[in-house]
Amino acid sequence: MLNKHENQNDYFHSLDDFQKNLFETLNETYSDETFCKLMAVKVANFFASDYHFHHRHAKLSSNPIQLLIDPSNGCQLQCPGCVHTGNKSVAEKFDWPNRSLPFKQYNEFLARYGVFASAAILYNYGEPLLHKRFSDMVRTAKEYLLFTMTSSNFSLKINADELVLSGLDYLLLSIDGASQETYQQYRRQGQFQTVIDNIKSIVEAKKRLKKDKPYLVWSYLTFEHNIDEVDKAIEMAEYLGVNEIQISTPFSVSWDDPSVKVAISPKQGRVVFKPVNINSYTEDERQAISQWASQIDTAYKASWGERLMKLGDKEEPSHTTASSCRWLYHNLTLDGASRIMPCCAAPTMDKKARNLVYAHFEGHNSNIINSASAVLSRQALADPETFTASTANRGATELPYCITCNEQPSPAYGFNQAAYLHAVDSRNSIPAEIYADLEQCALYKI
Ligand SMILES: C[S@@+](CC[C@H](N)C(=O)[O-])C[C@H]1O[C@@H](n2cnc3c(N)ncnc32)[C@H](O)[C@@H]1O
Ligand code: SF4
Ligand code: SF4
Repeated sequence: MLNKHENQNDYFHSLDDFQKNLFETLNETYSDETFCKLMAVKVANFFASDYHFHHRHAKLSSNPIQLLIDPSNGCQLQCPGCVHTGNKSVAEKFDWPNRSLPFKQYNEFLARYGVFASAAILYNYGEPLLHKRFSDMVRTAKEYLLFTMTSSNFSLKINADELVLSGLDYLLLSIDGASQETYQQYRRQGQFQTVIDNIKSIVEAKKRLKKDKPYLVWSYLTFEHNIDEVDKAIEMAEYLGVNEIQISTPFSVSWDDPSVKVAISPKQGRVVFKPVNINSYTEDERQAISQWASQIDTAYKASWGERLMKLGDKEEPSHTTASSCRWLYHNLTLDGASRIMPCCAAPTMDKKARNLVYAHFEGHNSNIINSASAVLSRQALADPETFTASTANRGATELPYCITCNEQPSPAYGFNQAAYLHAVDSRNSIPAEIYADLEQCALYKI
């Protein structure tokens, strides 16, 4: 088994053996080289990421295990506190160009990172369903065996059949009210009846097409103005046929609109009406990966030892006890304007306040994982002395935001990566202790 305490060189050479053995074990069960290589690479990458996180390295030979992608930066609503708020003096503080990610660029991004990752979270600060090719985006992500989830205001025209057939795993529906009057106080410009009609059509489409997915979650954020409608929303959610409703306490947005006040509901939590195992994978989904066989083969053949050597000959010092941020090791964010950011935070116009755009994605060879800002951020947190020496000549606006950030939001989006990979291995080929080790990875522990 892999030993996190080994030096880098030894660890990454044993990771090569581990990946090869894993491939052979899987192939005995599945006799499907492309699928087995893809799984072996994903599992090895998970351990590689966790190793770098454990030692708080500044440069990574691993690739992100989560891709956080905004298909569209734009949104038709104006919720307070959001980059799209109708409050001009707040909105203009954010650096948020309203662009849609070109499908070609999305494909290039997946071609580069999809093989290694386990999940594509297809939303951040825009309305993802505004992207005309959203369903195609999901379909492509599924071809790389990625768990796919998104969050939508659902207050727009949708094509329910396309969404269901895309293979989307998990769909959060942001509906903070049970009537137009209440709902629109947060979801400004939102049309409650459109949302309800869309829920009806997607539930009907799932039934007709005999699909369990997407798993539908009504997300209800509680404020003083909508807390009295929580019970009604729970009733409606059950009646409409969504899988569950989540009643949650939101972040305060009173800095944007003091009249919108957060409230805590005694019903806070989940009410599950239709439990379905979303960690499931069909044989059809598994077979759809064959078209990416050559990319998968290339990623499988490139040795981890060589990836490490490309970072330089010197072993990076280990700083296992230093504080750090897991986002810098497990995630990569791409927005609709092709900007690369480390996490789910939004950049501001005042670069000194939130300088978060660490690179731009310009194709396969863009230097992103180890961009200057990403490396400096990891270094600043793990090894402040080296960081101070290496940035002596940099102005404040050239320094990445991570060095002053104290937000460090939870990295998990409500699902368990190890359980997901286990589900993809539907014939239980990988030994249970490997899944147990994945569950234990500090990098992604929920
Ligand atoms: C910025 S939105 C983008 C996706 C989509 N437009 C939507 O609203 O679902 C991402 C998530 O943030 C959530 N959100 C909005 N305001 C929030 C708040 N004040 N506290 C916590 N989450 C919030 C939304 O409900 C949504 O699930
Ligand atoms: S619907 Fe989502 S993206 Fe749009 S304004 Fe509201 S929170 Fe922001
Ligand atoms: S330190 Fe803050 S800004 Fe940097 S990746 Fe973590 S959460 Fe994001």
